Amino acid sequence: MAVLIVSYTVYQWREPHLRADAAGTQVVNSTSQGRDIFASHCATCHGDNATGGQTAPTLNSKQFLEAASDPVIRNIVSSGIPGTAMPTWSIDFGGALTQQQIDAVVSYLRSLEPKAPSIPNWRQAAQAK
Ligand code: HEC
Repeated sequence: MAVLIVSYTVYQWREPHLRADAAGTQVVNSTSQGRDIFASHCATCHGDNATGGQTAPTLNSKQFLEAASDPVIRNIVSSGIPGTAMPTWSIDFGGALTQQQIDAVVSYLRSLEPKAPSIPNWRQAAQAK
């Protein structure tokens, strides 16, 4: 019994660390999954590594990433922008991506923020190219 109590105490003490490790690994995994999804589904319009395309905004922009919270980006990607070339992506609205895949793309875009260049006119920048 004493052994059980001791090992359970040790387990309880370790558990939050294990969980924190798992959460950290999950963020990394979903960021790299998001990078792949971006390359295959978004880069044709938004450019490789989100640096801007001919027709779509530069998403790797300090100002864009500061202005748009995760829920805002998630909503735009899920429902698309009606009347523009930006498609609907959520499977719920007839798109190609699950909510989990969209979350992965959002976490990929967020991962760019620390090194994102200053592009205050991220929407025009793409059109000017
Ligand atoms: C067929 C071209 C095309 C594809 C593919 C595409 N987009 Fe877009 N996207 C656009 C255009 C065009 C706009 C700007 C629409 C407008 O005029 O407001 C846009 C806008 C956006 C915006 C809002 C940017 C802002 O300035 O507010 C986000 C975020 C975005 N796209 C993310 C994505 C993601 C993530 C993917 C891939 C899952 C993707 N897009 C795929 C064309 C595309």
